[in-house]
Amino acid sequence: MVISLRTSTLTLLLLLPLLVSAYRVRGGADETLREVPGHRYKGPYHSHGSVLQKFRALQRLRAAEWDLRMQPVQGLLDSYKERHNACVNSKTLPGKYLVVRMEDKDAGIGNQLPSVVTGFLLALMMDRCLFVDFPFFNKYFDHELDFSWEHHAERLLAHGHNATAPEDAPLMIPFGYKAIADLWMYRNMTEYFHKYYGALMFKDLDYSAALLVNNPHHQEFIDKYFPTRDIFAPLASFILRIRPEFDNKIKEFKHLNFKLFNIGLQIRRRKCNRDPNEVSCELRPSVEAYCTVARHIQLSHGIHDDDVRFFVAADEPEIYTQVVKILGADRVIFTDNGISPNSSLRGVENPAQNKGTLESALQDMALMSHCNDLVMTLASSFGYVAAAWGGYAPVHMVYGRHTTSQNPYWYRAISSEPCYWQTKNMMRALDDKAVQRFRSNPLWMQYTQCHYDWDT
Ligand SMILES: *[C@@H]1O[C@H](CO)[C@@H](O)[C@H](O)[C@H]1NC(C)=O
Ligand SMILES: *[C@@H]1O[C@H](CO)[C@@H](O)[C@H](O)[C@H]1NC(C)=O
Ligand SMILES: *[C@@H]1O[C@H](CO)[C@@H](O)[C@H](O)[C@H]1NC(C)=O
Repeated sequence: MVISLRTSTLTLLLLLPLLVSAYRVRGGADETLREVPGHRYKGPYHSHGSVLQKFRALQRLRAAEWDLRMQPVQGLLDSYKERHNACVNSKTLPGKYLVVRMEDKDAGIGNQLPSVVTGFLLALMMDRCLFVDFPFFNKYFDHELDFSWEHHAERLLAHGHNATAPEDAPLMIPFGYKAIADLWMYRNMTEYFHKYYGALMFKDLDYSAALLVNNPHHQEFIDKYFPTRDIFAPLASFILRIRPEFDNKIKEFKHLNFKLFNIGLQIRRRKCNRDPNEVSCELRPSVEAYCTVARHIQLSHGIHDDDVRFFVAADEPEIYTQVVKILGADRVIFTDNGISPNSSLRGVENPAQNKGTLESALQDMALMSHCNDLVMTLASSFGYVAAAWGGYAPVHMVYGRHTTSQNPYWYRAISSEPCYWQTKNMMRALDDKAVQRFRSNPLWMQYTQCHYDWDT
């Protein structure tokens, strides 16, 4: 018995490296597309042979899920590349543009990156070229396509078009729930911006793609290119490519520390009791609760203790110590001894009272996106955007006393789509008809329930 087990494990060991290449996400000839999370680890394994078999099946499933998302959109992305290159290399005034604009200090990356992805979706829908005026993005992300607005504004100027002059200024998407809903859910966006050479998405800071999905004028587009309704994952895998000098650090950490199965714990303890409408600190899930769920996930897969790693991204130093105590120093991993030193030492300080720097936040978010699973704090865009980027549905840890079944300890999302965090306030501000329109999308609950309602 012992011998046959060893043999089957050995067979798997020999097979796995071969399978690795099959798990690459295929996206045409594009080798830079992200790997399926967690698959690069090459033993030795301690888990039972059947566990490894299940793991392989899970990896194949995830690769199939990526294919399912990428295949429909591949032609669209290829034609986008052509359009973008034409915009950048044009000898005359190039095609129309959409610019996504925000400042580093406006929000954390969990709110800013979805805005870039939404802008990309909108540019694809409207046959425009996307440019990004967001210093953090232009510094930390890199692409074969030049998305820099600064560069493009110079090109336009060379063609006699001054985008900062009032007569050539782009048309800005309006603010306010009613205006937002009216535009994103009801108007033909192409038509709306038609007369304007430039369109501007200014400080959107949310995942407004959640509204575009409901727009009848663009239904055909969504049905055709996003049949699973996962929008963030395929578009982020195209547009969010971390610059090699930063990405190499992330990969190095991953290769040194990740094992067969890696479970992220994104634990936010701050951001409570800040104002009377905000969630009470007393109602936060305990650190033990996160660890319990992570351990449950490990056991549910039958993963041996030596084959699992728990990757922690938390906002207080004590949390790291507690998780290490509960889950074991050998199995708990994190970057920068927990929270990274502040801005004067490491780049731009993280806004919105988030800890660390934008660079350390990006590093943690990218590593969570590479995990096989994630136990995250409800309403934290930092967590759900990491999972969305990785293309998997995380477990949300819920606030409260959990004394009734109406207030569970946790729930797992159905899809990887991130939240639209303004939904609850927006729905209150809209008339019945607009609320019905928003609800016409079967994902409306997914977009809604992951943010608490700080007004009630
Ligand atoms: C572009 O327009 C702005 C605002 O009118 C003006 O300040 C700037 O000098 C113009 N730039 C050029 C190169 O004309
Ligand atoms: C939206 O507007 C564009 C530009 O005017 C037009 O070509 C397209 O057919 C419209 N789409 C729908 C579904 O009305
Ligand atoms: C960051 O570090 C500098 C110098 O070490 C210090 O003066 C500053 O108060 C720190 N800022 C924060 C937000 O901790």
